[in-house]
Amino acid sequence: MGIKLYGYILFFFVLACSRHVNNENGDKVSDEALLQKIELQEQYALGLVKNLDASGSRVFPRSLTPEGEIRRVPKKDWTSGFYPGILWMMYELTEGEEWKQSAIQLTELLENQKFDKSTHDLGFIMMSSYGLAYKLTGNKEYRDVLIQSARSLITRFNENTGCIRSWDHNRDKWDYPVIIDNMMNLELLFFASKETGDPVFENIAIKHAQTTLKNHFRSDFSTYHVVAYDTITGAVVAQHTHQGYAHESTWARGQAWALYGYTMAYRETHLPEFLSQAEKVANYIFNKAGLPEDNIPYWDFNAPNIPNEPRDVSAAAIMASALYELSTLSDGDGITYVAKANDIMEALVSDAYFNEEGTNGGFLLRHSTGAKPKKSEVDVPLVYADYYFLEALLRKKSATVDSPQS
Ligand code: GLY
Repeated sequence: MGIKLYGYILFFFVLACSRHVNNENGDKVSDEALLQKIELQEQYALGLVKNLDASGSRVFPRSLTPEGEIRRVPKKDWTSGFYPGILWMMYELTEGEEWKQSAIQLTELLENQKFDKSTHDLGFIMMSSYGLAYKLTGNKEYRDVLIQSARSLITRFNENTGCIRSWDHNRDKWDYPVIIDNMMNLELLFFASKETGDPVFENIAIKHAQTTLKNHFRSDFSTYHVVAYDTITGAVVAQHTHQGYAHESTWARGQAWALYGYTMAYRETHLPEFLSQAEKVANYIFNKAGLPEDNIPYWDFNAPNIPNEPRDVSAAAIMASALYELSTLSDGDGITYVAKANDIMEALVSDAYFNEEGTNGGFLLRHSTGAKPKKSEVDVPLVYADYYFLEALLRKKSATVDSPQS
């Protein structure tokens, strides 16, 4: 059987577990139509990216500018790995060789980031690109890049605070800021310990997750975005926001990172405190915070003008992907988590959020919000929304087929 044909059969099998969904007119969108929509839009996106001079400093598509141009970012941007990751997932879904070759080309542009000690975002950058590259090819050179990246990341750990420093900027506001998003970077450290047998990476990841569990959550399991520490005593000196509405509000994407981060931390450690935290965060999202009827959150759960506030589709996609995984790990609520994830995915593939082919710079989804208080990337497509949407689509199969509850 040709590899391409095999890929299509695999893809249709994955989607066989999906329900048909309605577009805005109430028409059914079949699984085949969804695959076709994804492929056509990603081919359009790849055509735009290929027109680039890869030697330029801004290569990686991140969003759209207010003028509708693709906003491209350099290698050091926290989002640089997501587009290569999308190409790897297109390869995983279709086995199409053209996706693989483009994925290799874009991924390998990022290699030197493995030495970057100036950012906590190495986990995002390298796991979304090299992590998928290694998973899908087994190429040991990719594994070595990831291990060096983990070595760079742990230089940002401080014994006194018990966590990895997030930002080096805004020193006037915070001496040692740690953001909830940083939970996502831990996956790189768990990977490095598994591959090398050296527990140093995993021990730092566990300590960071435990410190974050203690200091980043309110009693209702909503999250603070930024926690600042005293590097001598380790004491918490501030619980703030940066991208949310207010220090005491719940930034939607931060809550999504927490859900995904503790689900992943439990998968890697089997420490019950991490599973329990993920379940409590999910409970906050669906029961305490509540979601709009279509399950796509506003950019902040406490935004002042709800329902007249922008949505954040990226938060929704991250939540859906996390929930599919959580459903396979949780003893109690697997069916509920799958149902919630399916509801989110149903909304995302509707005409309200899914872009028409050949529009919106080739991005799949619109209506994400990056940093509303900074008036940056409000109600736009974002590359990481597409990344986690495709990951959720892939996870949907194992969640619905393998879950003991299904
Ligand atoms: N720091 C990643 C984000 O904006 O969610």
